[in-house]
Amino acid sequence: METTSVTAISWPASAFIAAIITFTACYLLWKVTRNKRLIDQIPGYVDWPLIGDSLHLPPDLEEMRKLLIAETEKVRDEGLFKLKILEMPWIFIFSDRNAEKLLSSNKHIEKSSEYYPLYPWLGRGLLTSSGDAWRARRHMLTPSFHFSILKDFLEPINDHAGLLVEKLRREHCDTGEQFDIFNPITLSTLDIICSTAMGVDIGALDSGDSEYIKALFVIKKATAIRTRNPLNAFDFYYNNTKAGRECNKSIKIVHDFAYKVIREKRSLKEEGVSQGKRRPFLNLLLNCRDEHGNPLTDKEIREEVDTFMFEGHDTTASAISFTIFLLGAHQGIQKRCQAELDEIIGSSLSISNADLSKMTYLDWCIKEALRIFPTVPFFGRDLCEEMAFGDYTVPKGTAVFLFSMSLHRDPAVFPEPEKFDPTRFSPENCLKRSPFAYVPFSAGPRNCIGQKFAMMELKVILAKMLTAFNIESVVKQADLRVEGALVLQPCDGIKIKLTSRNVY
Ligand code: HEM
Repeated sequence: METTSVTAISWPASAFIAAIITFTACYLLWKVTRNKRLIDQIPGYVDWPLIGDSLHLPPDLEEMRKLLIAETEKVRDEGLFKLKILEMPWIFIFSDRNAEKLLSSNKHIEKSSEYYPLYPWLGRGLLTSSGDAWRARRHMLTPSFHFSILKDFLEPINDHAGLLVEKLRREHCDTGEQFDIFNPITLSTLDIICSTAMGVDIGALDSGDSEYIKALFVIKKATAIRTRNPLNAFDFYYNNTKAGRECNKSIKIVHDFAYKVIREKRSLKEEGVSQGKRRPFLNLLLNCRDEHGNPLTDKEIREEVDTFMFEGHDTTASAISFTIFLLGAHQGIQKRCQAELDEIIGSSLSISNADLSKMTYLDWCIKEALRIFPTVPFFGRDLCEEMAFGDYTVPKGTAVFLFSMSLHRDPAVFPEPEKFDPTRFSPENCLKRSPFAYVPFSAGPRNCIGQKFAMMELKVILAKMLTAFNIESVVKQADLRVEGALVLQPCDGIKIKLTSRNVY
C-alpha cells in the first residue's frame, strides 16, 4: 500500500517565506512608527499611552464644544488640532485653506465613522454611503432637488408656516410670558418634511402624539446619546442594552411606516392614479433609474426617505430657532428685517418665489446666524490616502473633521467673531474672503443636497413670523448654552416672548 509522505519545504522556499515575513513585519513597524510620528507632530495635547487625551475630555457636549473652540483658537495659525480618543487620533481642521483642501477633493469622500449610530436607521443612504455607491446615488437624486421641482414645495411650506403662526398667536402672543420656541418649530419642520418627502400629513404641530412621531423622537435621542459611551460602538453590546432595544423597536416602527407609504404610492403609480401637482420626493424616487435603467428597490427608497426625514427637519429647526434667537436679541436688526418684509410681502398670505428672491437682508441674517451657530458644527471624512495640511501630514485612514464652529470664528476673516453683523454677507464683503471660510452647508462634491430646499423653508417660516410678531429673546447671547454632535441645539431651548405687530 502506498503511503503519503509529508515533504519538507526546501530551504530556498523557507528562506523566501522568512524574508517575506521579515519584510512585512519591518514595513508594518516602519508604517506604525511613521504614522505615529506624523500624528505626534500635529498640534494637540501631550497624550498618554493607551488613554490618549481622555483626561482632558469633559463629560458633556457643551463643555466639549467650549474646550474645542478654546484649544483651536490657541493654534489658529496652524489651522489644525489633534485629539486622541484612546489611541485613535481625530484631526480637527479650521482654516479656509485646509477646508478647501479637504472639501474640494474628489477622492476624499469617505464619510467618517462619526455617523455609525445612524446606520441602523438610515442604512447606507446618501448621507451615510461612500465610494461608487454614493456617486451613483448622488447622480440619481440630484435632479429631484432642481429648482423646477422645489418650487412645487413652496405651497405646503407656506401652509405649514401659516399654521405655526396661528398656533403661536393663539397660545403665546401678547401673554407677556416666555416660552420655548424650539419645540413648536421642530414640530412644524417635521410636518413640512413629512409632507414634502412622503406626501403624508402627520399633524405633529397639532398633537405630536402619533406612534411614528414618538418613535422618531426616541431614535433621535438614542442616536445622540449612543456616542457618549465608546462601548456602544459595538452593535452586539448596544443591541443588548435597554436603550439599544428601545431604539431598535422605534426604528422598526419608523421603517414599517415608510415601507407602507412606499407600497401605497407604488401601487397608485402602477394603477396610473394621478397624484396631483404636489409630488413628494418619494414619488420622484419611484421614477429614479440607475445607469443600467434599474429602479431603486423599496429598501433603497426607504433609506433615502429616512435620510431626508433626519437631515430635513432637525437641521432646519436648529437654523430657524437660532436665527429667531439672534433677531430677538438684536432689536435694530429685527426692525430692518421687518421693514424689508413689509415692503415685499405686505399682508399677502402666501409667499412666492419672486418674494423670496427679494428678501436680501433676511438672507444675510440667516447666513450670519449659520455662521455663529452652524447647524452641523463638524463633519468628517476618513482619509483614503495621506494628505498634507500646510506643514503637517495626516496619515491614510485618519478621521479628519471640518470644525465649522471654529472656522467661522477666525478673527482675521470675521473680525469680532461673536458679534451678530449680517452685513458681513453683503456681496462686496463676501468677495473679500475665500468661499471656504464659510461652509454651513459644506462644499465640494459632498455638499448639502438640500441647501436650496432648506433656505426656502427658512425664509418662508422666518418671514411669516417676523411679519406677524415682534420677537424678544430672554437670554443674552453670551449666556445661551448650546451643544451638538450631529446637529447643534440649544441645551435649554430658546426662550422668547412674542407681541403682535398689528401692522395690517
Ligand atoms: C439649515 C439646514 C441644513 C444645513 C445647515 C445642512 C447642512 C449639511 C451639511 C454640512 C452636510 C454635509 C455633511 C457631511 O459632509 O457630513 C449636509 C449633507 C446633506 N444634507 Fe443637509 N443641511 C440642511 C438641510 C437639509 C435638508 C432640508 C435636506 C433634505 C431635504 C438635507 C439633506 C442632506 C443630504 C441628503 C446630505 C448628504 C449629501 C451627500 O453626502 O451627498 N439637508 N447637509
